[in-house]
Amino acid sequence: MKIAVLPGDGIGTEIVAEAIRVLDALDLSFEMETALVGGAAYEAHGHPLPEATLKLAKEADAVLFGAVGDWKYDKLDRPLRPEQAILGLRKNLGLFANFRPAICYEQLVGASSLKPELIAGLDILIIRELTGDIYFGQPRGRRTAVDGHFPGAEEAFDTMRYSRPEVERIARVAFEAARKRSKRVTSVDKANVLETFQFWKDIVTEVHKDYPDIELDHMYVDNAAMQLVKAPKKFDVIVTGNMFGDILSDEAAMLTGSIGMLPSASLNSSNQGLYEPSHGSAPDIAGKGVANPLATILSAAMMLRFSLNQAEAADRIESAVKHVLASGLRTGDIWSEGTKRVGTREMGDAVVAAITKKTITG
Ligand code: IPM
Ligand code: MG
Repeated sequence: MKIAVLPGDGIGTEIVAEAIRVLDALDLSFEMETALVGGAAYEAHGHPLPEATLKLAKEADAVLFGAVGDWKYDKLDRPLRPEQAILGLRKNLGLFANFRPAICYEQLVGASSLKPELIAGLDILIIRELTGDIYFGQPRGRRTAVDGHFPGAEEAFDTMRYSRPEVERIARVAFEAARKRSKRVTSVDKANVLETFQFWKDIVTEVHKDYPDIELDHMYVDNAAMQLVKAPKKFDVIVTGNMFGDILSDEAAMLTGSIGMLPSASLNSSNQGLYEPSHGSAPDIAGKGVANPLATILSAAMMLRFSLNQAEAADRIESAVKHVLASGLRTGDIWSEGTKRVGTREMGDAVVAAITKKTITG
């Protein structure tokens, strides 16, 4: 089993280091190889996704990714910005299915900005299509308008598009995932305005015929954004396009009050996957040793489960994280009165200890 380790920028290096220590503590045999990505790769090689990094990622069974980005790269031409590395990996590896769970840990109920009763026990799964939609649709660019409200003016444009197979496959992923949960899927669209999303809705409805055991409903994205803060527990699996999924997954993550806790997985059709925390590179706290490594550690658990066929090891990590939370340790982002504030390394130590002392049984 080969893991490509791409720590990236900002807090990426610190949090990935802890995830690796946790993986090492499992006593399984992985081959791990590290490469530069994002701003770090741009500094060293002049490109955020160098050929060698892409090759490593393609050859590996899984990619463990930290985070990329820093404000200092905002003025670079778009193809050289750190974010292009993650988009390039998604595209080149065909990582079309993005799993973003939003789980409210019992001990962290108080960290949410919503009332505890609204989010206690929250466990939703956003499945975001990741290689289509307006993110990748061509044509895009700038030009002089020939029509519209201001012919002759400068304009910019992107293209929202989905093909039938793209929608079919992500719908299947969602229905299959729902089968292992509470058998409910909400498909989020904007069919009242957009042709692309009327098409999306029609196809999801068709594919649903193969899954009579699953309950499907459809919701417009604006309403979904509202329902997520009004009554989030009404959702179970949400499936949506790339753009809406980007926005709703941040909203859902923040419902739990602790984006520092949430892992994510992006899979292709052969279960090769990229695993990363749902949060970004947080340059403001980089290098200070205070970042929460748990989202990355939990991403490593998802990696074991989805791409490396090691469900038991994944359970061990997840149990260890719960144990550490129950013992009262908190990084700054999830700290509250009466708990013990620790840094990145101490949090990693505690998870490793929980795994190796075998105080935890899967
Ligand atoms: C995410 C991020 C990325 C996205 C950026 C960094 C390109 O926001 O993974 O949600 O928009 O998909
Ligand atoms: Mg995002």
